[in-house]
Amino acid sequence: VLALAAPTDPAWLPCALAHLDEILIDHAHCEKKAASTAVSLLFRYPERRALLAGLSALAREELGHFELVLQHLDARGVRLRHQVPSPYAGDLMAAVRTVEPERLLDTLLCSALIEARSCERMRLLAGALGPPLADLYESLLVSEARHHRTYLELALEVVPESVMRDRLRELAAHEAGVLARIPPVPRFHG
Ligand SMILES: [Fe+2]
Ligand SMILES: [Fe+2]
Repeated sequence: VLALAAPTDPAWLPCALAHLDEILIDHAHCEKKAASTAVSLLFRYPERRALLAGLSALAREELGHFELVLQHLDARGVRLRHQVPSPYAGDLMAAVRTVEPERLLDTLLCSALIEARSCERMRLLAGALGPPLADLYESLLVSEARHHRTYLELALEVVPESVMRDRLRELAAHEAGVLARIPPVPRFHG
């Protein structure tokens, strides 16, 4: 079960399907960014032993996804390029508090929500596409659901469960609000 406060706007899927190459390019950037977020937490919290192995494994898996998406881009004859990012991640992370351990908790929970949104949208894409992209998304959405749970478990290393659940609910509502303010664009999170 994903902790999202609102489902994706029905206008998003047709927009994504009409711009599949752009979605795949954005997807490659998202996988790279997911790895980078996990690695940056390794740098920021070296003393948090309970987080290190999980974050490291997650970063490696995200880079594996990145390589997989690159293969699909190659197969379509599409080159990876810079792309204007959606304001989603920046707007979402604006809710992260600045004192510790709240900063760490919020970063982990926002990461959990990003994973959940990716998973939800991969399911939409898998249901609407044929092979080989349907198979790609079918397999990746299982990993992203697991990453969602991993981040929630890591958050429980920081605060008790009741605190985690309350803050997750607040941030999920914030995430839904952020998405509602972005018109449907061909981005994974937009
Ligand atoms: Fe991934
Ligand atoms: Fe992930």
